[in-house]
Amino acid sequence: MGRIRLLSETVASQVAAGEVVERPASVAKELVENSLDAGARNISVAIRRGGISLIRVIDDGCGMDRDDALLSLERHATSKIRSASDLQAVATLGFRGEALPSIASVSRFRLNTREGDAIAGTEIIVNGGKIDLVRDGGEAAGTQVEVRSLFYNLPARRKFLRSENTESRNIEHQIHLQAIGHPEIGFSLMRDDRTLFQLPATKTLADRIRDLYGVELLQRLVEVNGAPAPKIQISGLIGQAGLSRQSRSQQLVFVNGRAIESSLITGAVREGYHTALMKGQYPVTFLFIELDPATVDVNVHPAKREVRFRDPKGVREVVVRCIQQTLERARADWQEKFRAPLRAEPAAPVSAKAAPDLALRSEITAPETSHRELPNLGAVSSVADPGRVHGSEITEQFARPSDRRFASTGDRPAPQPHDKNPAQQQFEIIGVLSKLYVLMENANGLVLVDQHAAHERVLFEELRRRMEQQGVPAQKLLLPQTFDVPPRDADWIEQNLSVLQRMGIGIESFGPGTFKIDSLPSFLDVSDAAQFMRKVIDDLKSASNNTSPMRLGEEMIAKTVCRHAVKANDPLRYPEVEKLIRDLLGCDLPYCCPHGRPTMIQISLAELEKKFGRKV
Ligand SMILES: Nc1ncnc2c1ncn2[C@@H]1O[C@H](COP(=O)(O)OP(=O)(O)OP(=O)(O)O)[C@@H](O)[C@H]1O
Ligand SMILES: [Mg+2]
Repeated sequence: MGRIRLLSETVASQVAAGEVVERPASVAKELVENSLDAGARNISVAIRRGGISLIRVIDDGCGMDRDDALLSLERHATSKIRSASDLQAVATLGFRGEALPSIASVSRFRLNTREGDAIAGTEIIVNGGKIDLVRDGGEAAGTQVEVRSLFYNLPARRKFLRSENTESRNIEHQIHLQAIGHPEIGFSLMRDDRTLFQLPATKTLADRIRDLYGVELLQRLVEVNGAPAPKIQISGLIGQAGLSRQSRSQQLVFVNGRAIESSLITGAVREGYHTALMKGQYPVTFLFIELDPATVDVNVHPAKREVRFRDPKGVREVVVRCIQQTLERARADWQEKFRAPLRAEPAAPVSAKAAPDLALRSEITAPETSHRELPNLGAVSSVADPGRVHGSEITEQFARPSDRRFASTGDRPAPQPHDKNPAQQQFEIIGVLSKLYVLMENANGLVLVDQHAAHERVLFEELRRRMEQQGVPAQKLLLPQTFDVPPRDADWIEQNLSVLQRMGIGIESFGPGTFKIDSLPSFLDVSDAAQFMRKVIDDLKSASNNTSPMRLGEEMIAKTVCRHAVKANDPLRYPEVEKLIRDLLGCDLPYCCPHGRPTMIQISLAELEKKFGRKV
């Protein structure tokens, strides 16, 4: 007797539903996408108990007449494509005609829909895939879908669900994605009778981000603006260098309006950020990629979460370049803040300043003579009661008013050759906090600089520049060393010999699997050259798979400069601090160290006013 049997319609659709409906968030996604395809202007979502007990999506889209409403619950029934050729250029979010029947087969499902000009609407109730009731419905024009008791007839699937909290957060993330992808549509989300957000329709992505995540995040984003590429357009907002997150939750990528997950794009974004991103952290991106639909296959993933590009290499290159150029441009904008003149009036003699704040100020500004260390603001008491702590010493050391202002137009040391616009930089160093943070003032308000991170960035860029130009200066070892490596590492060294030499590592082959080193970069302090080389190889091998030789050199520099940079608690003398800041401002990416940690934090006057309750 034959062992093969056809599955019943119900079982077959439950099996199919398994792919489309993984969890409550997939239901929310499919329903909202249907609403968007139906031309809705407002979409409200309500969930209960992580979406397991209820997911309700209400829209004011085109609605359906009764025949269509019934048909929409049949598998492979769609209004969005007609032939196989339409699949090659899908312009809607849905196209398979699978979502509604799949959802309806694994839940208690209610559809209520009415076309704008129809007198009556239609209500359909489906339980576990079986239509139980069809009648006139009296709701507003548009469509309401209610999904209750998800997976009630699939206990195995139900067991795999996570906690209500986690499922709720997944749904929330889904709705965030859709809301960011469509700022022109109003969105609201209710969770267990509490409104999580209510977003009015807006004109711009920036407004939507502000409404959803707050103005603080928006202020740290820059508008994507790379050189235009033929056939592919990239827009959106991305985090400025130094901004990162511990999870991917704000790394949003849209291709032709569809939120997607793509290792190709996230890899390209990472490459674009390069040293502007902290290791192990994720960038913040609201990235919109638009290209001819015929060059993207959207039909490659059961939940439509992934796409395939016809020219993945081309897309990658455009994204990398675009991110790099955007960050570069953001640097120029940032530097503007150091170009505007300081607002404060020129310093008056200390004695003339009767107000206590000014008296305090004069005590924590620059020293009279350049060889003295900067005053340290670490001890609270020294600020609260400077007279008691430093006594007459302070007045003696620091109170010469003519030295108070250190705008770079003064008789400061000659600018570094790489300074972009040294003559225009305007800042005033106030002091050093806790032997680590340089406090300074610019046109925007207060700037805090992490001197260690700043030094890393400056060194990194200097070494990179040298590598690109004449090579990093090398220092001969007293005794050349030979060392053996396994064949695979030997191959790697052979392939990268010229880069290693440019980086100041004097290395050459010395027989099979053996190499000789006779010099190392002079900025390094290494006692065992062979051991150092093994470590470099280990570190760089993983980075070198798909990167250029220059990138490899950068990677090595980023990994080694840290050891050389000023450590926290290294007291710097005033001219050193000033030079450090000036060098930092001349960097290509001044606001983060080569490992992506921020080097400086700007606290604007407006923020201060808000914090002090002067402005609400
Ligand atoms: N909210 C809605 N408003 C108006 N029409 C809708 C709505 N939801 C679904 N429909 C109609 O029902 C059809 C079936 O929806 P369903 O989600 O099952 O498939 P689809 O969107 O065409 O494709 P996919 O399975 O990829 O989502 C849609 O093509 C659309 O015509
Ligand atoms: Mg759909």
